[in-house]
Amino acid sequence: MITTSGLTKVYRSRGREFTALGGVDLHVREGEVYGVVGQSGAGKSTLIRCVNLLERPTSGTVTVAGQDLTALAGRGPRASAELRRARSRIGMVFQHFNLLSSRTVQDNVELPLEILGLARRERERKALELLDLVGLADKARNYPGQLSGGQKQRVGIARALAGDPKVLLSDESTSALDPETTRSILQLLRDLNRQLGLTVLLITHEMDVVKTICDSAALMKSGRIVESGTVAELLATPGSELAAELFPVGGEPSGPNRTVVDVTFHGEAATQPVVSQLARTYNIDISILGAAMDTVGGRQIGRMRIELPGRFEENVVPIGFLREQGLQVDVADVNTPAPAAAPAEEGAK
Ligand SMILES: Nc1ncnc2c1ncn2[C@@H]1O[C@H](COP(=O)(O)OP(=O)(O)OP(=O)(O)O)[C@@H](O)[C@H]1O
Ligand SMILES: [Mg+2]
Repeated sequence: MITTSGLTKVYRSRGREFTALGGVDLHVREGEVYGVVGQSGAGKSTLIRCVNLLERPTSGTVTVAGQDLTALAGRGPRASAELRRARSRIGMVFQHFNLLSSRTVQDNVELPLEILGLARRERERKALELLDLVGLADKARNYPGQLSGGQKQRVGIARALAGDPKVLLSDESTSALDPETTRSILQLLRDLNRQLGLTVLLITHEMDVVKTICDSAALMKSGRIVESGTVAELLATPGSELAAELFPVGGEPSGPNRTVVDVTFHGEAATQPVVSQLARTYNIDISILGAAMDTVGGRQIGRMRIELPGRFEENVVPIGFLREQGLQVDVADVNTPAPAAAPAEEGAK
């Protein structure tokens, strides 16, 4: 549904060049919710702004719903009619809502419909229908200043849906909201994704957002995608940084010369009997350092961190045994002393 290939963006200012995107290949399938995460400055907003051509990429292509947007002429306010039309089919939701305070809720939702040239009756009908869809039918005549943050974001979402988009882009749309409101907005996005078959590309720095609604995710670092896949694939990828952040399991080894192993199991599988079998079969003492169950991408996942006596080389056979049981096993690299915690980054979110 959304494909970028070799997307780069180089900003030039005062004779200096800065590469905000260094060749991004992104593939978002139709009907999925896709999350892009990464630290501040990683290039997430630049990426999403390039996807709807609010920002013209330096090189590479962006295809949305089969149409190559980069081939359409114009930029910014001088976008060609074709590009405008294509863009009206891509909804965009912003962190700070971007509502016009002098217009009523209904008039805010009608704004893109005015630009599309719809007649007043038709605009009114559409706006009220959308406000109903986002649960704000009774606020049509209010002004944005009279709404809570969550309600404002619902208006932002209704407005984004005005052009009957197939694709919704969201840049940190819940970052200004409290946790409970965040949940209700995410639920709304999920419902719209299911009801309208809407493809959603969202940018976030909150892992919880990915955990709650994303089917797939990508991790961005310094203008590049360093990991991507469905949430299930990521969780099944040994050493995946995203998986570790989506589902952290802690626990420090009790001493030197130990092998620490993270065991992941999906759905029904339980590790408990496997661990006791392992202990019996190889006559070793196993300590459980940490364990957790969680729902990630709608699936029950469990993770357990266990400790085996001896170095890795001495545990190749027991680890092989765990893998044979169909469990995902990652050997945690904890024998090297952990580096001193890095000082918190200035301005990091
Ligand atoms: N118009 C611009 N001119 C020059 N540099 C820019 C411009 N816009 C963004 N950048 C730089 O590009 C990099 C990526 O910015 P971007 O806004 O995409 O990051 P981000 O991942 O969205 O960060 P955040 O999580 O803080 O929103 C940053 O280093 C930023 O300073
Ligand atoms: Mg940003």
